[in-house]
Amino acid sequence: MLNKKTVDDINVKGKNVLVRCDFNVPVKDGVITDETRITAALPTIRKLVADGGRVILCSHMGKPKGQVKKELSLAPVADRLSELLGQPVKFACDDEVVGVNAKAAAAEMKDGEVILLENTRFRPEEEKNGENLSKDLASLASVYVNDAFGTAHRAHASTAGVTSYVDEAVVGYLMEKEINFLGNAVDDPVRPFAAILGGSKVSSKISVINNLLEKVDVLIIGGGMGYTFVKAAGGSIGKSLLEEDYLEYASEMVKKAEEKGVKLLLPVDCIIASEISDDAETAVSPVNAIPDDKMGLDIGPETIKMFRDAVKDCRTVIWNGPMGVFETPKFAKGTEAIAETLAELDATTIIGGGDSAAAVNQLGFGDKMSHISTGGGASLEFLEGKELPGVAVIAEK
Ligand code: 3PG
Repeated sequence: MLNKKTVDDINVKGKNVLVRCDFNVPVKDGVITDETRITAALPTIRKLVADGGRVILCSHMGKPKGQVKKELSLAPVADRLSELLGQPVKFACDDEVVGVNAKAAAAEMKDGEVILLENTRFRPEEEKNGENLSKDLASLASVYVNDAFGTAHRAHASTAGVTSYVDEAVVGYLMEKEINFLGNAVDDPVRPFAAILGGSKVSSKISVINNLLEKVDVLIIGGGMGYTFVKAAGGSIGKSLLEEDYLEYASEMVKKAEEKGVKLLLPVDCIIASEISDDAETAVSPVNAIPDDKMGLDIGPETIKMFRDAVKDCRTVIWNGPMGVFETPKFAKGTEAIAETLAELDATTIIGGGDSAAAVNQLGFGDKMSHISTGGGASLEFLEGKELPGVAVIAEK
């Protein structure tokens, strides 16, 4: 259990409270296309409002790299938040994040009011954890709440540095829930415990595989990264995704699984094509005998069955990363099958953020999972066994 101070441990009545959320949501033509991260932040905001706090929200969006990019303004988030909260959320539209608008709004706030600052990454100091921005943010409030689990793996001014300049710093309900779900699953799982890892790159999942091999009973590897494992075992993978530099690592992990008594499952068949397109001609191929001019783009039917059987009696399952190029419907069946399998399990099912979370939600299985993380990179780093900087800076209870 997370042993950090939370919003339940403080008194915010009449105080300005700076709340770091992760409102890094997809926006198309000014319209938010997935508001999961906004709704996930509501419990903390509502609690602070109900307690009479003067709530100053902040977040990054996208990667403007210290420049003002109007298309990455948080203005649409303020509008949507107003609707969801049922009260006005004033948008302090300062390009420098803490400018005349933010300062005036923060000074005039009444208990229970809410304002939102502009994208913190419009300031170059944000990603450098620069003192100036940390101090500017802290000048608006005496209490700081970090509820941005999705950004907790970044030591930035608004997630870490700012805590040095406020009276009190605590975590919010979302942060607490995320860490408790992921932490309990990894450190005290009801067994059998399986992890399903997918996605394109072995290189981005090295530490996760290494750490999870110490914890799980079953490790399932699919997606683009599976082909490097197949190649390492001597298979012919055609034009499939390969990370040459990680062949040796893949062999080492297979060996480690054997030593630890972990059942490591790799695909046995896959869907092949010459191009990633819905018009592409596809076929099922053994995963270790892919023709030279073809590539594996999804797991095949036998693999789906094997992966299903492997998790059917598991009591805890963590899934991170799609099984194929699921954005192209022709190569989405493997990912869909895993989502469906998990939805039917009588187990604690935890979906790492990013693509697997998007897949589960798109398929309408969201409410069938025990927990869908709002953090892609953050949940991966947590599963690597790292302490997240945005959590490390908060005092213990
Ligand atoms: C995310 O979407 O994973 C978080 O908001 C963090 O964003 P970043 O990868 O740009 O730091």
